[in-house]
Formats: sequence, structure tokens, C-alpha cells
Amino acid sequence: MASVGVASAGQYNYDVVRKFTILALIWGAVGMLVGVIIASELAWPVINMDLPWITFGRLRPVHTGAVIFGFGGCALFATSYYVVQRTCGVRLLSDGMASFTFWGYQLCIVLAALGDVLGFSQGREYAEMEWPTDLLIAVVWVTYAIVFIGTVFKRKQPHIYVANWFYMAFILAVALLHIFNNLAVPVSLTKSYPVFSGAQDAMVQWWYGHNAVGFFLTAAFLGMMYYFVPKQAGRPIYSYRLSIVHFWALIFMYMWAGPHHLHWTALPDWVSTMGATFSIMLLMPSWGGMINGIMTMSGAWDKLRTDPILRFLIVSLSFYGMSTFEGPMMSLKDVNALSHYTDWTVGHVHSGALGFVAMLTFGSLYHLVPKLWDTGKMYSTKLITVHFWLATIGTLLYITAMWISGIMQGLMWRAYDDFGNLQYSFAETVAAMHPYFAMRALGGVFFLTGMVLMVYNVFMTIGQAKSAPASGNLAANAA
Ligand code: HEM
Ligand code: HEM
Repeated sequence: MASVGVASAGQYNYDVVRKFTILALIWGAVGMLVGVIIASELAWPVINMDLPWITFGRLRPVHTGAVIFGFGGCALFATSYYVVQRTCGVRLLSDGMASFTFWGYQLCIVLAALGDVLGFSQGREYAEMEWPTDLLIAVVWVTYAIVFIGTVFKRKQPHIYVANWFYMAFILAVALLHIFNNLAVPVSLTKSYPVFSGAQDAMVQWWYGHNAVGFFLTAAFLGMMYYFVPKQAGRPIYSYRLSIVHFWALIFMYMWAGPHHLHWTALPDWVSTMGATFSIMLLMPSWGGMINGIMTMSGAWDKLRTDPILRFLIVSLSFYGMSTFEGPMMSLKDVNALSHYTDWTVGHVHSGALGFVAMLTFGSLYHLVPKLWDTGKMYSTKLITVHFWLATIGTLLYITAMWISGIMQGLMWRAYDDFGNLQYSFAETVAAMHPYFAMRALGGVFFLTGMVLMVYNVFMTIGQAKSAPASGNLAANAA
């Protein structure tokens, strides 16, 4: 990838940030395309064409891997490497190690996707990769931790800006989760068996799965929020004190909430209750964080009328608030008895994933790209506005379809007739969901179209950088 302007040669290592930014966009487009394909397969199964490699079961983990680890992960690498340099006032600890994390991480994602399509899988959600890939991930991740934390250590600023706390918690927690959840005994290059079994195995997997949400999809993105929302709004963060309370409360509570994924199973009842209790408590730090982000707009609300980047950021915080209200509610055992196994969960996931994670990423990258390529602004603001509306409408179509379909599905499963027999066969519930599957696929097409427009807009911006005089104005971009 070309290095443009003086920024790369200067004080900071922007080269690795640029590479991760571009790959985030590419994985985003690929992952969302696969999302649209699997959503369409559920609505019209004939699309499978009876080919095992592209059946729903194999493509689903390709989707989750590409969007969470490809799109989300690359965006986190890019923004964390950028933020830590700007807020600490120093270059990354080691350019070589940072570059290793880039190439190593891309290899992990490609290996994971190949394993899924070819049918090599541990069968653990979000941790499908077999042991050789897991080992590589561990090496890359530890290198990432060294680069990031090493950069924080050599900072010129006396204090550590709160965004870096969130990124550090994410890096350390993911290392811990990944290593413990993948403790396995290999029997061949492509097959291994976990060291845990039965209920313990399920508990470890959902300790991992839940904290993948808590630390990968939440804490790290809050780090992104704490840097890019104040930057784009041109205002200081509303309350620094609240951000510290937010940080400690959030990371302490998330770790205990995993059992809410295993209500009504062989898990001891008290473990399930503990998971629900911590989930309810999580509402408070989550909303504290949302309020802190949104209130940062105080005195700058008028900017929302003209700045689509800010709109992405603020709408993402609203979706964050919504999904962190819905999550605690779904963690109540009686609500979960209805929601679990249904599309309601999938709706909840995507109100967080599309509404919060993806929208926040779009806003942050739109802010970042002109700085990285030293162009001053994006190629087209109008296209950002179109993207904003496509993403918002796509998210709303997706989640409302899943709420209706999920709640209907749950109610149909538990409906009895006058004689005490189940009122509906399973096939009848699937048939009833068809229109909502189609509506979700349409929402996905909206969302994907927005993503493609963003890729175009970013590449046109980069094109402008190449033709601009190489007078990269680092001072103007100063943090
Ligand atoms: C064009 C946009 C997208 C579409 C059409 C889409 C579609 C889908 C579909 C059809 C499923 C399978 C649901 C099922 O098993 O019934 C799914 C699962 C999932 N997707 Fe997406 N998706 C999109 C974007 C994203 C993004 C951006 C993320 C994360 C940042 C994401 C994260 C997930 C996760 C975590 C699951 C697993 C949910 C669960 O196990 O309950 N998706 N998606
Ligand atoms: C206070 C915050 C939150 C709580 C307490 C919470 C709670 C829950 C609960 C109870 C479930 C359903 C478990 C089940 O029945 O299997 C769930 C699923 C899920 N949530 Fe959340 N949620 C929260 C926020 C979020 C956010 C912000 C995101 C995304 C960025 C998210 C992503 C997910 C995912 C991916 C799943 C599906 C996991 C799977 O089954 O594969 N959650 N959450």
C-alpha cells in the first residue's frame, strides 16, 4: 500500500493504520455480502444450490468471522494504533512488530474463513478456528499487546487518556479469553478436542462468547467512541470522571454475565441467576457511557444538521443505549425463556452490531481517512449522507423484522390448543417467518449498498491524495 504525504515519514507510524483501515473496509464489504447471502438463503433456500461449501451452516461463521474479526478487528487495530500515538505523543513501540500484527492478523482471518468453508471447525461459536490458527492468533495478539502497551509506557503525556484504558482492557481480556477457551488436545492438524467437557465446556465457551461481545464488540468500540466523538464534535468529553467510573464498572461487570447465554440448561441455577444479576447491573455503566458520549454534543447540537459523520457517531450511541437496555431485559430468565433460540436474539445482535458497532466505525473512519491521507476532507460529503440514510434504514428494517419474527416464533412454539397439544408444527413456524426473512435480506441490501458507497468514497479520497502535492500538513492534523 502506498505511503502518501509526509505523515508516514514523520513522527507517527500511519502506514500500519492506513493498511488496517483499508482492510477493515474490504472485510466489511465481504462480510456484509456474505451476511446478505445467508439472509437470502434463509428466505429462499434454493440459493444453496446443494453445494456444501456455500450452505448456511458453513457461510454463517464466515459472515461472523469476517464482520467481527475482519471488519471490526481491523478497524480496532487501525484506530487503536492511531489513538495511542496521538494521545501519548509518541510513535508506536516497533514498526516491525506492528507490521507483523497486520500481516499475521490477515492470515488468521483468511485461514479462519477457509476452515469454515472446507468444514474444519471446533464447533464453538466465534471460535471455530482449529488449533494451528488459534496458535497463530495467540502470537499475533501477544505482539499487539506488546506494541500497544509498550507505546503507552513510552508516552510523553503524563496521564493515559481514557480511550487507551478501554483499548488496553480489550487487548488483555481477549488474550485471556482466547487462550482459555481454546485449550484443546490436538489429534491431527485439523482436529482437536477441548480439555473441558459437558457443562464446564459450555460455560467456558460462553464466558468467551459473552466477553467477545463485552470486550471486542463493546469495550474496544467505546475506546473508539471516547476519541472520535469529542474530536468530530470539537468539544471535550462531557465528564472525564464519569468515563473513569464507566470504565471500571463496565469491565468488572461484563466478566460475570456470560451465564445469561445458558439459561434453562444443565448449568447450576445459581450461576444462571448470577449471570442475570450482573447483566441487569450492566445497564448502569452502559447508559453512563452512552450519556457521556451524547452529552459531549452539548453546545454543538447544531452541527448535527450539517455533519453526517457526527450523525453516524451520535446515532450509534443511541443504538448502543437501545441494545444495552434490551440485553439486560433478555437476560431475565422468564424473558429469555421466550427469546432464546429465536430471531429476537439475532435482532438484538444486529441492533448492537449494525446500529452501534458498524455506525461508530463508519463515523470514526470517515473522520480518520482524510487525516491519514492528508486530504483535508472526504471526496464526497453527499455520499456520506446517502450512506448514513442507507445504514439507518437498513438497520431498522433488519431489527424490526427480527423482533416481529422472533417474538412470533417464540409465542408459536409455546402455544397449546384446548387439548393440551402444541398448536403449531415447527414447519408452520418457519413458514410464518418467511416474510420477515425477506424483509431482513432487504435491510441487509440497504446496509451493504451503504458500505460499498463508503469503499468508493474512501478510494476516491485516496486518489485525491496521490494527485495532491506531498505537503502533508501534520501540524493541521495534530491531536
Ligand atoms: C449487511 C449486513 C448484515 C446482514 C445482512 C447480516 C445477516 C446475518 C444473518 C442472516 C445471520 C444469521 C442469523 C441466524 O442464524 O438466524 C447473522 C448472524 C450474525 N451476524 Fe450478521 N449481518 C450483517 C452485518 C453484521 C455485522 C456488521 C456484524 C458485526 C459487527 C454482524 C454480526 C453477526 C453476529 C454476531 C451473528 C451471530 C448471531 C447469533 O448467533 O445470534 N452482522 N447475520
Ligand atoms: C448491557 C449490555 C448487554 C446485555 C446485558 C446483553 C445481554 C444479552 C442476552 C441476554 C443475550 C441472549 C442470550 C441467549 O439467549 O442466548 C444476548 C445475546 C447477544 N448479544 Fe447482547 N447484551 C448486551 C449488549 C450487547 C451489545 C452492545 C452487543 C453488540 C455490540 C451485543 C451482542 C450480542 C450477541 C452477538 C449475542 C448473541 C450471542 C450468540 O448467541 O451467539 N449485546 N445479549
